[in-house]
Amino acid sequence: MDLFGKDLITTQEWTKEELDAVLDLAAKMKRDRFNPRFTSLLQNKTFFMFFYNPSVRTRQSFECAATELGGHAQFLEPKAMRLKTATSAGETVEDAAKVMDRYAAGLGIRILEDKIGAYGEGDDLIREYAYWARMPVFSMAHDKYHPFQGLADIMGWAEWYGKGPGQTLDMSVLKGKKLLVTWGHGALARSWCSVQEALLIGSRYGMHVTLAHPEGYPLDPQVIEWTRANCQANGTTFEETTDVREGYVGAHVVYSRHWMSPDAYKDGEFLKQQEIERALKLTEWICDAEKMRLTDNAIFTHPMPIDRGHEVTDEVASGPRSCIYDVAENRLHVQKAVMALTMSGLL
Ligand code: CP
Repeated sequence: MDLFGKDLITTQEWTKEELDAVLDLAAKMKRDRFNPRFTSLLQNKTFFMFFYNPSVRTRQSFECAATELGGHAQFLEPKAMRLKTATSAGETVEDAAKVMDRYAAGLGIRILEDKIGAYGEGDDLIREYAYWARMPVFSMAHDKYHPFQGLADIMGWAEWYGKGPGQTLDMSVLKGKKLLVTWGHGALARSWCSVQEALLIGSRYGMHVTLAHPEGYPLDPQVIEWTRANCQANGTTFEETTDVREGYVGAHVVYSRHWMSPDAYKDGEFLKQQEIERALKLTEWICDAEKMRLTDNAIFTHPMPIDRGHEVTDEVASGPRSCIYDVAENRLHVQKAVMALTMSGLL
């Protein structure tokens, strides 16, 4: 399998064999983090990290990943460049991508929430860079998908239901397990990327999937269609409910996260305050110990940053069945694996 030069915009666009190869290498890199087999894979190579929005985990873990593979990660932001926008003259994406391609071995882009004027614009931008650049282009979270988060999530869940974090990884332990992805109320008006990626990758790995949200918070119909098709291919179920408790019954993995409504973008504007005011009224949509008691001793997962007290209580987020820090750590390992496979040319 040759993954050199391959873009990663959503895990749905990679085959199961390719995802397995990433997870297998990520698990090896986690167990033997500084083995010399890995520490020169990106020697002399640079990874460009182009952030329209802020980040803690993504920036830090990609920087560490580049360092640990013997390369370098360079932070870029739009204000440090002279890019053409809808309202100002400047450089086109074609020119920027073709020039960046002459310098770096890979490019990651983050664009979501207030940096777009309509759902789908972030995805269009990343795909435009991917079209013009020969180097691999990655989503570091955009309006539609968050592939590295999805990989870190599924690795963490398999570790918890398998031999434990840092041990040999057996992805088959997730087959037949029930994943609940539930909306949580909150004050952050978040994009759909993380939850959509979780639906896609959970269903690829043979989990039953339930999506729970209040009326008025549907996700992308294309993602729902793919999730349903993934479940069908694996002989598992996909259910959607607007009941706050129903989805918890018998769940093995609970993913509680706020996401914005489809009304968040209007006439090219992101109506953040309106979204927050609307969401904060739905106070029963919180993951708490009472709802977790309905599950089959489920683990709690979240991509972080967590809106504690809204999406989930402290008791659950910091409880003994929370896998949040293991999943956050896995960002480093899955990113190292993807960078090594797509950027080094040595594997
Ligand atoms: N989960 C995640 O992408 O975190 P950051 O927004 O901090 O990068």
